[in-house]
Amino acid sequence: MATACITGASSGIGMEFAKKLSKMGYDLILVARSANTLQALADKLPTHCEIIPCDLSIEDSVIELAQTLKTRSITILINNAGFGDLGEFDQTSLNKDLDMIRVNIMALHILTKELLPIFKKRNSGYILNVASSAGLFYGGPYMATYYATKAYVTSLTSAIYEELKEARSNVHIAALCPGPVDTNFNNVANVRFSLPGISAKSCANYALKELFKGRLIIVPTFIMKAAAIAVRILPRKYMLAMTAKQQKKKQL
Ligand SMILES: NC(=O)c1ccc[n+]([C@@H]2O[C@H](COP(=O)([O-])OP(=O)(O)OC[C@H]3O[C@@H](n4cnc5c(N)ncnc54)[C@H](OP(=O)(O)O)[C@@H]3O)[C@@H](O)[C@H]2O)c1
Repeated sequence: MATACITGASSGIGMEFAKKLSKMGYDLILVARSANTLQALADKLPTHCEIIPCDLSIEDSVIELAQTLKTRSITILINNAGFGDLGEFDQTSLNKDLDMIRVNIMALHILTKELLPIFKKRNSGYILNVASSAGLFYGGPYMATYYATKAYVTSLTSAIYEELKEARSNVHIAALCPGPVDTNFNNVANVRFSLPGISAKSCANYALKELFKGRLIIVPTFIMKAAAIAVRILPRKYMLAMTAKQQKKKQL
């Protein structure tokens, strides 16, 4: 039986990935800090689910997780765990920034790096890195660290995609870049959306459909697809001012 590993499966988009993949027949490995929530989810799903409680902001824990995952036969890795924070760069917490960099970047980087060789050797499998529409922009004033972490995710994923293509590998990697999705994200990031959000279920289902089609950058909504095109056409300073305007509307 094929197995998928999802980080950040205790809530939001990650939980919807778990529900959909289990419905499709995948066994699951569910990762997050909230062990009880993961267990409650595992108990409800129709396929076999292993839960691995892990704080992905701790490097040693992520390395230990990667070693465990290497002993399982994983066919899909979804690096979904992540969070943001709103505020002027010189006013937000350094500790929260560093935790964000460790969860959004370090953990995703370690898990991708440790598992990709196994996928390549087997010449099959999918890696889905959850970035954000934030990863498509030049920068995100008032959410500077979050946007920068997600730009890292889209950049890393795109580079690996090309390496896999040039190696004629059947392994596929993609970055999911949604705009607003109705989850617990806002509460953690201290924001309210300036645009209406889509449901976590529709986001996860769309992402999986596009992943299996071999798409590199997956953008679920028309408005964000249009914004991604605008970034390529409009001057950087203009886009930064536009992004700042949108971000200011997110202040609670
Ligand atoms: N919602 C949006 O509008 C939106 C838009 C674009 C991209 N995204 C991205 O989508 C992904 C999922 O977010 P979401 O919207 O579903 O938010 P969410 O409901 O807050 O879920 C975040 C998940 O990440 C996990 N997580 C956070 N810190 C962790 C840590 N230190 N160790 C392990 N797990 C951790 C949380 O689990 P525990 O708390 O149990 O550890 C939770 O399962 C994130 O990468 C986010 O940046 C979200």
